[in-house]
Amino acid sequence: MVNLKDRDIISIRDLKKSEIEYILQRASKFEKSLKKGNLKLLEGKILATLFFEPSTRTRLSFTSAMQRLGGKVLGFSGTEATSVKKGENLADTIRTVESYSDVIVMRHSVEGSAKLAADVASIPVLNGGDGAHSHPTQTLLDLYTIKEFKKKIKGLKVALSGDLKYGRTVHSLAYALALFGADMVFISPKQLEMPRDVTTELKSKFGISVEQKHDFSKVIKDIDVLYATRIQKERFPDPEEYKKVRGAYRIDLELLKNAKKDLIVMHPLPRINEIAPEVDKTNHAVYFKQAFNGVPVRMALLASVLGK
Ligand code: NCD
Repeated sequence: MVNLKDRDIISIRDLKKSEIEYILQRASKFEKSLKKGNLKLLEGKILATLFFEPSTRTRLSFTSAMQRLGGKVLGFSGTEATSVKKGENLADTIRTVESYSDVIVMRHSVEGSAKLAADVASIPVLNGGDGAHSHPTQTLLDLYTIKEFKKKIKGLKVALSGDLKYGRTVHSLAYALALFGADMVFISPKQLEMPRDVTTELKSKFGISVEQKHDFSKVIKDIDVLYATRIQKERFPDPEEYKKVRGAYRIDLELLKNAKKDLIVMHPLPRINEIAPEVDKTNHAVYFKQAFNGVPVRMALLASVLGK
């Protein structure tokens, strides 16, 4: 029996395979019941959304998920109008907010901040992205999307492309794909390769050594899933370094000519120029459905950690 009540989700590693499967199954039920409307499962509960960094999908899909379940939401996006501006530390902010709410989702630019928040708070803390480190709830909706379109994860060939160094979504996703037995290939500029701590863990824990490529040419015809990511401009210590790699890859119709008919192209969004708009109308494009999937997946997560 899976029980996620009161659980913090700071890393995807906080969840066992069976627990991830439980959330995905629950999400699928919620997706179906969404059409019927009015769920009251979380009536009387309050979600706090603390977004110290910009967000569209993560914050709004958490908000939508909570409201669809009959719960309420409070929080901030940007610290301009909060006491953080006056110099309040994170621990004090969390101690205050936990007394106003039942569950917290937080996004912060500092790696490890979600862990700190979870250590301070007695209510569940969900990591909505901590710096370049990790983004576990994005991974849950990514897995859900792959299962939706491919019916399985094991044995699929998945390319993770773009900014593998600073991209937190791929750090979490690579671990989960290994856990579920997918084959991976990494495609990035030399400067933006997958960090050593991620590749070392894949090797030590799963016995996997993933090939690192610098372009799509040799792999495009073999892959089932192409997961593109944005070059994370805000994380570059030197803007000149960013200029060298921006626009490194562009997925367009020309590239997709050589792809499998049923290749799915995913992206956590926002995209800058990684995917040409002309790709949107092809059957390969699943990134907007992927963004929608944040709602049922986060409904499942919220209901689970609130013990409902
Ligand atoms: C991602 C993030 O914030 O890490 N966005 C998201 O949550 N969907 C990806 C990104 O910002 O590039």
